[in-house]
Amino acid sequence: MTRKRILSLMRPTGKLHLGHYLGVLTNWVKLQDENDCYFGVADWHALTTKFDETDSLKFNTSNIVMDWLASGIDPNKATVYLQSLIPETAKLHIYLSMITPMNWAERDPTLKDMVKIMKVKGCNEEGFSYGLIGYPILMAADILTFNADYVPVGIDQVAHIEIARDIARRFNNIYKTNLLVEPAPKLTEIPLLKGMDGNKMGKSFRNDIKISDTEEDTAKKIMTAITDRSRLRKTDLGHPDECEVVFPYWKIFGEKEEIFEIESACKKGEIGCADCKRRLACKVNQKLSCVRERRKHFEENQDELREIIYEGSKKARIKAKEVLSKVEEAVMVYR
Ligand code: TRP
Repeated sequence: MTRKRILSLMRPTGKLHLGHYLGVLTNWVKLQDENDCYFGVADWHALTTKFDETDSLKFNTSNIVMDWLASGIDPNKATVYLQSLIPETAKLHIYLSMITPMNWAERDPTLKDMVKIMKVKGCNEEGFSYGLIGYPILMAADILTFNADYVPVGIDQVAHIEIARDIARRFNNIYKTNLLVEPAPKLTEIPLLKGMDGNKMGKSFRNDIKISDTEEDTAKKIMTAITDRSRLRKTDLGHPDECEVVFPYWKIFGEKEEIFEIESACKKGEIGCADCKRRLACKVNQKLSCVRERRKHFEENQDELREIIYEGSKKARIKAKEVLSKVEEAVMVYR
């Protein structure tokens, strides 16, 4: 297979949890071996809604990159960068915003959902900025700055990628060129990971286990997981296939024989839910120990982390400049 250029960004909104780790990051780690990957922190996109929360933005940027590196993203294989260190993307955003019909942005369903959620949270008129309307165009600029072939994203982001494709096509038509590549979404099959309360794992539900949690916190959280309410005594027979959180976690984190052993012990009433969770906590902690060790390294070596972000961004700019100079040639801006 020929190498493809693959790009994806995340907004720095908080420390990442096991849902991100299993659903997104393990996939990125696989992709980086056989492709030219660009993984970016979308700090400008974070500003579209959180323009007044810049302290947490800084904090979250370093945390998100630590989570990536801990999970196995290798800066020698993939280009790890910060969006706001690529001025070419801002320039491309200007050019693209001139040719994007207003109603393309207004019709974007993902943006509509974001606005709806912000309204529910009590955001007033002043919270909806001009920059927010440009969200999908800025995202198109991210992708087209590097002429990426594929963009791994979750289903909620596909509408944005469609707009990026439309914008690339329109640019090429207007300026009679084939410079911009129409990017394709690469749907990440995100296995639905439940939080300890049985809802989808998410920061806003406060039911998540973070990559950066300590072993003690992880164990405490797992001990709160919901279990079979009809099972009052340890010796009551259990139903692993109806167990909402704990057994599905075993299936993700356990070895084959172990899963089988837990399943049959539960069915026979030989292991109680508390014991089962205690063992699961050990298992999850054991599986994450390398990841957490790597993370600790970067927590203690912030200069090294900074160097990785700056060096990656420098490398990304080389490609970005190449594309942008061709864009400006096509638009024939006087230089
Ligand atoms: N909108 C994306 C999200 O919220 C983040 C993002 C910004 C992105 N620019 C991108 C994703 C470019 C893929 C490609 O998750």
